[in-house]
Amino acid sequence: MTDQNAKRPPVTTTDAGIPVASDEYSLSVGANGPLLLQDHYLIQKMAQFNRERVPERVVHAKGSGAFGYFEVTADVRQWTRAAFLNTVGKRTPVLVRFSTVAGELGSADTVRDPRGFAIKFYTEEGNYDLVGNNTPIFFVRDPSKFQDFIHSQKRMPDTDLRSHNAMWDFWSLSPESIHQVTFLMTDRGTPRTYRHMNGYGSHTFLWLNEAGEQFWVKYHFKTEQGIENFTDSEAKAMTAEDPDYHRRDLYEAIRKKDYPVWRLEMQIMPFAEAERYRFNPFDLTKVWPHADYPPIPIGRLVLDRNPENFFAQIEQAAFEPANMVPGIGPSPDKMLLGRLFSYPDTHRYRIGTNYLQLPVNAPLAPVHSYNKDGAMRYRHNGHQPVYAPNSYGGPQADAQRAPDPSWWVSGEIVRSAYTPHAEDNDFVQAGNLYRHVLSERDKAHLVSNIAGHMSQGVERHIQERALKLWYQVDQELGERIAQALGLVLS
Ligand code: HEM
Repeated sequence: MTDQNAKRPPVTTTDAGIPVASDEYSLSVGANGPLLLQDHYLIQKMAQFNRERVPERVVHAKGSGAFGYFEVTADVRQWTRAAFLNTVGKRTPVLVRFSTVAGELGSADTVRDPRGFAIKFYTEEGNYDLVGNNTPIFFVRDPSKFQDFIHSQKRMPDTDLRSHNAMWDFWSLSPESIHQVTFLMTDRGTPRTYRHMNGYGSHTFLWLNEAGEQFWVKYHFKTEQGIENFTDSEAKAMTAEDPDYHRRDLYEAIRKKDYPVWRLEMQIMPFAEAERYRFNPFDLTKVWPHADYPPIPIGRLVLDRNPENFFAQIEQAAFEPANMVPGIGPSPDKMLLGRLFSYPDTHRYRIGTNYLQLPVNAPLAPVHSYNKDGAMRYRHNGHQPVYAPNSYGGPQADAQRAPDPSWWVSGEIVRSAYTPHAEDNDFVQAGNLYRHVLSERDKAHLVSNIAGHMSQGVERHIQERALKLWYQVDQELGERIAQALGLVLS
């Protein structure tokens, strides 16, 4: 016998759980109105509807995400004491959010842009957030240029249109961006799907082992689906055909149990080598050549669960590079240090003071901080003392369990570029990328992608300034772009 009651849908209620009388009709005086203020459910529906949106992320607004796990595949205890990495085979639940950078919430997935690759590891020692991109480098190396860079990518104040002229104006006046712009203008700037691209921590981080030894490290998540990109014209066609193509692809792949996998490989530099390394190893516009520090496979990232509710679990997800667990710390990369402040600040504004209490952001590890109250707080520790030190059994910090990774600093307080290392300049790695990494087809696409991008409303004097940078990357590349643009440098 079937249980008829079990099949019935639940009764509609107000948000306070009170059963309501109708899903269709508001309460009126007679069938033809007027409406009554006592129809609390109608008023609740209208008021809640008006408040459905939170501000979109100021950057990386359009994105998609999924849950899964990270599994350790190699013993890394010689380099880090991070608990979630301490046993081969250990699995840690994760949330990953992929995104484009410059567009808004409803913008197309397939435009030319770097892609965000943000990972939240729900570890036994609290949440570890690695908030990277699909590129190992970035456009600028000082956090005070980030806002200006983003303004050059977003809509202009007068037209409210995006402006290639502004983009090339900024880039051509910021030669440190040329390596990342070269990368962006290859077909890697238009990945086929989120599944077919790599992820990078991009910055250099510090690992600390049980013995107190420290190592500089870089994270590379290599796609096991293989790298696949759209050409410029394929990406443009897909932008028109299905602006949500990457979102749909990720969701459908996981729904069909075709779970995407990335292999985590680490580059590891002994602490003492940083000072004399030929490039500044903390400069985010540079890579560490693999010949110097070969990537070592240490784990697998697997995504096997779609969100059940996009808003609650992806839109309200809050990643912050400052979330680092014992055994992992920042490096002197000025961009990373700037980001440690920026993300929790934006979350307090975008989501609210107690954003860390939302289920998607809450750690699996217990929370025993001395912070209290604020809008919408619902988790608490009862009458636990709210000040330290105290005589009543409040939590106590443990320097043994959470030692701060550190390095020595001394110097005058200045506003200055990094001290250059022997081989530091803005063009050498971009030139090597062009000469030694790209195939002939990649090179041809790079030239046509750059020329196409620079042809869309970019003023002549800015084209000429940018062209001078391309010549410095590589003479042949400069000549090919000049020819494609019909420009001759005087
Ligand atoms: C000083 C430099 C930077 C600043 C101030 C900055 C600031 C921000 C802010 C305010 C957000 C919005 C966060 C939110 O509302 O949830 C964001 C998102 C993001 N940023 Fe940055 N950013 C910087 C550099 C970088 C770099 C170098 C990377 C990659 C290596 C990066 C990757 C991301 C990613 C992936 C997201 C989206 C996170 C998500 O999916 O929620 N950012 N950034």
